[in-house]
Amino acid sequence: MIEIHNIEKSFDGNAVLKGISCTFETGKCNLLLGGSGTGKSVLLQCVVGLMQPDLGSITFDGTVFSNNKVQVRQEIRRKIGMLFQGSALFDSMTVAKNVEFPLQMLTPEMSREERRDRVEFCLKRVGLENAGDKMPSEISGGMKKRVGIARAIAPNCTYLFCDEPNSGLDPLTSLKIDELIQEITYEYNITTVIITHDMNSVIEIGDHIIFLYQGLKLWDGTKDEILNAQVPELKEFIFSSSLVRAAKRIDDETHSGVESL
Ligand SMILES: Nc1ncnc2c1ncn2[C@@H]1O[C@H](COP(=O)(O)OP(=O)(O)OP(=O)(O)O)[C@@H](O)[C@H]1O
Ligand SMILES: [Mg+2]
Repeated sequence: MIEIHNIEKSFDGNAVLKGISCTFETGKCNLLLGGSGTGKSVLLQCVVGLMQPDLGSITFDGTVFSNNKVQVRQEIRRKIGMLFQGSALFDSMTVAKNVEFPLQMLTPEMSREERRDRVEFCLKRVGLENAGDKMPSEISGGMKKRVGIARAIAPNCTYLFCDEPNSGLDPLTSLKIDELIQEITYEYNITTVIITHDMNSVIEIGDHIIFLYQGLKLWDGTKDEILNAQVPELKEFIFSSSLVRAAKRIDDETHSGVESL
């Protein structure tokens, strides 16, 4: 479990995170939900140590991360897998070399054979067993995300962070990527944090959802609770989609039908 306590972050006097406290639960897909510019990526960067918060603390399974010794921070960093927005693959490396890269960086004790086996295993796990020799320019956007996921989990990550894994994908491919992230989360009991503004993802994989609004956490709960949340800013956000409005109507009708039986 990752615990975040009272995180604040400003840029040139402009407060972006205004005292956020929340937890990311183990073995679950924790979604950071919110409109553009609400501070989701800044929060994620603070949590993984790419940015230093001005105030507050971050704890990974009981070990304080923020302001701790370099060695302790490095130990935690080794357990973090990241799926970057846009996949961020190295264009000049094959798919297999991309997945091998963090193993070379983080686990120098592994032999070449062990690395090759691990790459093969991870590519198979994401359904890309035959794509190892391809270059990133030769594969589709959905396949790139899969390679990004394989690369993130290659060093056996305990924590997985995904910044908008669905951006630029069609709805069906998005669903498959969501399902893959969820399966991997459950299978390896990973603490997964996913930034999204996609309501489909919320409904599909939102085990624990944290709603950010203008640098504040306004609500958290599950996918089963979100459609009935009574926070006006959250309602405005989720019901801006006509698809979600229709889903809510069907849900209400089903329930009123059950009650009248
Ligand atoms: N390095 C930085 N320096 C200055 N301001 C920044 C920096 N990073 C982010 N900001 C500002 O912080 C605010 C929140 O940005 P952030 O990237 O966290 O938004 P977001 O919720 O991830 O939005 P989106 O959904 O569009 O990705 C924005 O106003 C942004 O301009
Ligand atoms: Mg962002």
